[in-house]
Formats: sequence, C-alpha cells, structure tokens
Amino acid sequence: MNTGAMNTATTPEPDEFTRAEQAAQFILAALAQNPAMEIPRIAVVLGSGLGDFAGNLQPAVVIAYEQIPFFPRSTAIGHVGRLVIGKLGDVTVAVMQGRVHQYEGYTAKQAAFPIRVLGRLGVRALVLTNAAGGINPQYGEEALVLISDHINLQGANPLSGPNDERFGPRFPDMTKAYTGAYRQIALDAGRKHGMELHEGVYAALAGPSYETPAEIRYLRAIGADLVGMSTVPEVIVARHMGIGVLAISCVTNMAAGLRPQQANDWLLGDPLSPREINHQEVLATGARVRGKLLALLGDIIPGIEESFKPNKPTSGLPGTPGSK
Ligand code: HPA
Repeated sequence: MNTGAMNTATTPEPDEFTRAEQAAQFILAALAQNPAMEIPRIAVVLGSGLGDFAGNLQPAVVIAYEQIPFFPRSTAIGHVGRLVIGKLGDVTVAVMQGRVHQYEGYTAKQAAFPIRVLGRLGVRALVLTNAAGGINPQYGEEALVLISDHINLQGANPLSGPNDERFGPRFPDMTKAYTGAYRQIALDAGRKHGMELHEGVYAALAGPSYETPAEIRYLRAIGADLVGMSTVPEVIVARHMGIGVLAISCVTNMAAGLRPQQANDWLLGDPLSPREINHQEVLATGARVRGKLLALLGDIIPGIEESFKPNKPTSGLPGTPGSK
C-alpha cells in the first residue's frame, strides 16, 4: 500500500479494541454534556423500516454514525444511521437507528463493530430487531418471532483473525446465544399486550439478492424458521463480550416460493407461480408492525433493566449457572 513519500506520514490504524474504546469515549463525552443522562446498560438495534422508535426517548442525545470515530456508515435504504441515547420511562437506552450489513461491502467484523463500542460503553443487554422472510408455515406476514438460535450461512465470522482477550475468549460458546430469561420477559410482554409471539431459528445469508425457492426449501430442511441478512455477526460479538441478547424478527414477507398470489395477480402474470419479493413491500410491512414492536419494547426494556437488580434471582441470566 505504501506507494511513496506521500504516504510516509500516515499512522497505522489502531487495533479493534483501541478503536472501540475511542468510539466509546467519544459517545461518553457527548453524554457528559447532558447531566440528566446516565450510561446506558441496554442497547437496541432497529432494523429495516423499524427505525422510528428512538423518537420516543426523552431527553435524547443524537449522534450521526459518521460523527463517531471508526463507526461504519449505513448505506441501506430504510436505515437512518443515528445513535440515540435517551430515557424510556426511567430506563436509559442506547438505540441504533439502522445497522450495516455484509451486502453493503462491510466485513462481518465491521458490521459488528458498533456492538464492540456499545460493550465498551457499558451495555450489558442487547435487543436486536430485524426484518426477515418467514419460512415456518405457521408464521404469517407481520408475525413477530423471538430468535431462539441461528444458523450462520454468511460465510464469515466477525471473530476470525487474532483474538483480543480483552474482548473475550478465543472460542466463545454459542449454546445459549439468545438469553432465555430475556425471551421470557418478551413472552410476558407479548401476553400483556395480547400479542402472539413465536420463537424460531434464524438463518443468516449474505444477500443482497433474496433467496431462490430452492434455497428456501433447503433452509427449511436444515431447521430454519426465518431468513435474513443481518443480526448474526452482532450476536456473535455480543456473546464474545458476555453481553446478553434478545433478538426479534419481524416477518415482513413469507420467503421466496412461499408467497401465494394475491386475488387479482392473475391479471399481471402467471396465476400458478408464487409472488416475488420486493424491498418496498419489506419496508412497508416493517412500518406497519413498528407500532406493535414499539409497544412490546416499552415493556421488554424495563423488564430487562429490572433483571439487573442484585436482589433478582440470577438463574437464567447470561453467564450464570442454570441459564437457558
Ligand atoms: N430474505 C432475506 N432477508 C429478508 C427477507 C427475505 O425474504 N425479508 C426481509 N429480509
């Protein structure tokens, strides 16, 4: 890369830990300007079309991703690209409005870097949301599904390369990647709101093309209930750092080959072939479900915060004996 005199002054980029630390310090400095703000222990990542929730936070510190040192920039449509830290009731939360993906050209490590930063900031629980295609025939469009496990088919792992023990161990366990106690909190919140929440296995693909019907049949055969293009690098990095994870998929469409024709589609094409998927519909469904998800998060977040209290039974929480 060094092609001569012009480059001799460039300093090498600091290692990932130092970069995460510098980004976290930048965010802490922004928080310190508002004495009412505490350091968040819970973070939420809002996926495609779901990015409006942050408007409900009071009082809020808003930082564009491009202002944060080393933060990747969101280029995907439907992803705003702002970190909002504010209060939801009594609880301080950090909300990422939009994420970056492998299909934008980022590595898995880059896609998960914001989670490194949140971890260095002091976040202990991560709530991830995403738009996903439904594979399990019991789901319908607009269903909300708690991810219970995943299958990483992105062809990359954010932990590949030298391990930095300051983040976590070389070979982190993924048996309990999705914190059972947080899923229970979410199920209770769903019950309170009269919402049926499913649980299922999320298959992560690199994208950006949607799957073929044959790929969906394959994913179904290997045990996937949902398919999407995000979330898994973030989960792996969070677990590497000992952060607990809750992940909620919004089924924005039934997956390729599983979409029946609409009533008047025969006017437009072959009545026997399944409908195609388009990103506008994915965003529109996400927007319709946003309110439901928001109501749910309004109860889940205080529930998770409550679980941090020392007098709470710790069984089932990340890293404790008996955790699911
Ligand atoms: N496939 C992959 N990712 C998605 C889909 C899908 O059908 N819908 C929303 N995100």
